[in-house]
Amino acid sequence: MKNFISAHDVPDINALVTKALEYKNSPFKSKHLGNYKRMGLLFLNPSMRTRLSTQIAAQNLGMEAIVFNVGQEGWALEFGDGAIMNGNSVEHVKDAAPVLGKYFDVLGIRTFPSLKDRKDDYSELYIKQFIKYAGIPIISLESATLHPLQSLADIITIKENFAEKRRPKIVLTWAPHIKPLPQCVANSFSQWINALGEADFVITHPEGYEIDEQFTKGAKITHEQDKALQDADFVYVKNWSTYTDYGKISCKDPGWMLTNQKLKLTNNAKVMHCLPVRRNVELSDEVLDGRHSIITQQASNRVWAAQVVLSEILQSNG
Ligand code: CP
Repeated sequence: MKNFISAHDVPDINALVTKALEYKNSPFKSKHLGNYKRMGLLFLNPSMRTRLSTQIAAQNLGMEAIVFNVGQEGWALEFGDGAIMNGNSVEHVKDAAPVLGKYFDVLGIRTFPSLKDRKDDYSELYIKQFIKYAGIPIISLESATLHPLQSLADIITIKENFAEKRRPKIVLTWAPHIKPLPQCVANSFSQWINALGEADFVITHPEGYEIDEQFTKGAKITHEQDKALQDADFVYVKNWSTYTDYGKISCKDPGWMLTNQKLKLTNNAKVMHCLPVRRNVELSDEVLDGRHSIITQQASNRVWAAQVVLSEILQSNG
């Protein structure tokens, strides 16, 4: 594994999950793998889980992790090739990334989309420029369109909670929110569940919230949430903003919030959410605090997702 940006970087998701669960069972079994290696964690946006779980994962491998909050503490970066830098940006990624490539052995980067220009966001310029200019392996800590460490943790959690021989029914449902949010988690979850190919996968959302087909191809898509929830084994709840009329909120219907009443339609489904969650907007207290919720387990698995990815990168890149 050279970089970790999407499901396409993983030749065998099941093998990666097995190794992640081995780390969960024995966190320090490769405690010398990262000795004398350093990871830089660059945050252009806020984070709790990604930041801490990746630091813990690096430490478990004997690796030093240094966090740099670029958005708050660093020079404003320019990403466009050929830019005339007479505006707010102070340093070009072409100059900054090679320096970081000398300081660190692996670089993790968290960026968000602007949600203003779909073509720009979906070009993934920020992370691609770091790959181009840093000269060391890059791990996405969430990019403009994807959140691969989250999706790997999600699949680990699903595997832990489903022991039956049949295919599970997994439902991704849109939920209301007061702000326009990125499509990253929904895109990424769809990409990984489709790449895994072991589930009956249904996506439900209001009209206007279609997800880019490159990620959803293979899933059943419906605007009828109740129909989607029927006999579900897992319900993944997430808000995202509109994709076609890009980055907007076109539905505020609180009827899309998951409740215990709606969960009666499911096969005693486990409820997932990547967090942070707006209580009683995106998800009700009764669901979050009830027996169906596996959100804490899901967030705790972020450590093992990060650890297995880091260990694969360290092993492949010497
Ligand atoms: N789920 C997730 O990425 O959480 P943070 O934004 O806190 O990192």
